[in-house]
Amino acid sequence: MAAPSAIAELMRDLGEALNTNPDLLFLGGGNPALIPEAGDIFSRHLQALLNDKALVQRWLGVYQSPQGSESLLPLLSQYLQDQGWPVSAKNLVVVNGGQSAFNRLFNLLGGPSVKGTQRIHLPMLPEYVGYRGQMIGGDAFAVSRPIIALESEHRFRYKLDRSALVLDEHSGALCLSRPTNPSANVVDLEDVRWLEGEAKRWGIPMLVDCAYGAPFPNIMAPSQAYRWRPGSVAVLSASKLGLPGLRTAVVVADEELASLLAHVGAVENLASGNTGPLLLESLIASGDIHRLTQLIPEYYQPKRKLMLALLDEHLQDVPYRIHGADGAFFVWLWLPNLPVSAKVLYQRLKARNVLVMAGNDFFFGEEASWQHARECLRLNICQSDQAMAEAVAIIASEIKALYSKAK
Ligand SMILES: Cc1ncc(COP(=O)(O)O)c(C=O)c1O
Repeated sequence: MAAPSAIAELMRDLGEALNTNPDLLFLGGGNPALIPEAGDIFSRHLQALLNDKALVQRWLGVYQSPQGSESLLPLLSQYLQDQGWPVSAKNLVVVNGGQSAFNRLFNLLGGPSVKGTQRIHLPMLPEYVGYRGQMIGGDAFAVSRPIIALESEHRFRYKLDRSALVLDEHSGALCLSRPTNPSANVVDLEDVRWLEGEAKRWGIPMLVDCAYGAPFPNIMAPSQAYRWRPGSVAVLSASKLGLPGLRTAVVVADEELASLLAHVGAVENLASGNTGPLLLESLIASGDIHRLTQLIPEYYQPKRKLMLALLDEHLQDVPYRIHGADGAFFVWLWLPNLPVSAKVLYQRLKARNVLVMAGNDFFFGEEASWQHARECLRLNICQSDQAMAEAVAIIASEIKALYSKAK
């Protein structure tokens, strides 16, 4: 944990851009947009909670149970059942954020064990950089490269390479973010079911990270919604609804694993915070959660369109490719044969007050031997239209300068 870390660097950049130097053009970390209509809904609910004096006493003055709030869990389980998830309250555990959920899951299911080191399989790179550096005793990930499908002159898509996945008795779990951070990919449901089948064959869980997906915040096509199945683990987070400050997530797992996660939570943290679960309960009970899961994807749609249009306009003279922008709030840019590493490009952009994410660290070490992994940038679409336009103009000028210098 003390080792150099891409996620720690990312959060440092984020803190600087959003808290201390707001003049930076911030297309970097994964902070959601501040959506005024969502903010109004949150304020209204929080105000109503504050008006209930008895509730405020419990809110501030009582530790939550290890599994989570007794009033939230049945309500949340009904909400998930309504979306076709075969769950009961016993399958749910409230956690202080998805990051913390993955820390517990990776360390329970992977790393040193009596059977030797168990690996967490990431079946499709690039994958969420925040998974790295979490495992006690050193990361034990087994990663697979995807198939790169070229879709048109300036578009491409990663596809699962089923032949690249090799599970064995040292496999502890599979893990996939869907929509995927960073590529904005939404892996085909058929492939997810195939991965779940492979996991089942080896008696291990498939972890599906729904941070950006269904049921909330739902920043993806509804027809592609994942539904949890026994044997798998889904991690839901309130962060990308617009609530990263509350640090609230929910893990959906088989009862035995759910109660183990609750046990670990008590050891690690005594209890999770009360504010997020209380607000989530209020949003679900009132039905406003449905309003949010409509308005949030609607908010990002024109932003995504604008980012694609800006890139297409400004990058005309370079050999760029953009990944199919299926979900989440990122656009993933591939610059084939980029003359320098994307990390160098990141530094050059930072010097010009533009923060992006270099793609390298999303490739879990493969960047050393795979040129593609040094040629990508992740751009978020959460800033004002003006900031996005200014940032893309600077990004394009740096990219053009690099390519033309190499000619
Ligand atoms: C794919 C993915 N998973 C999990 C997380 C963790 O989010 P949180 O801890 O805020 O729930 C993030 C945050 O950016 C993410 O992008």
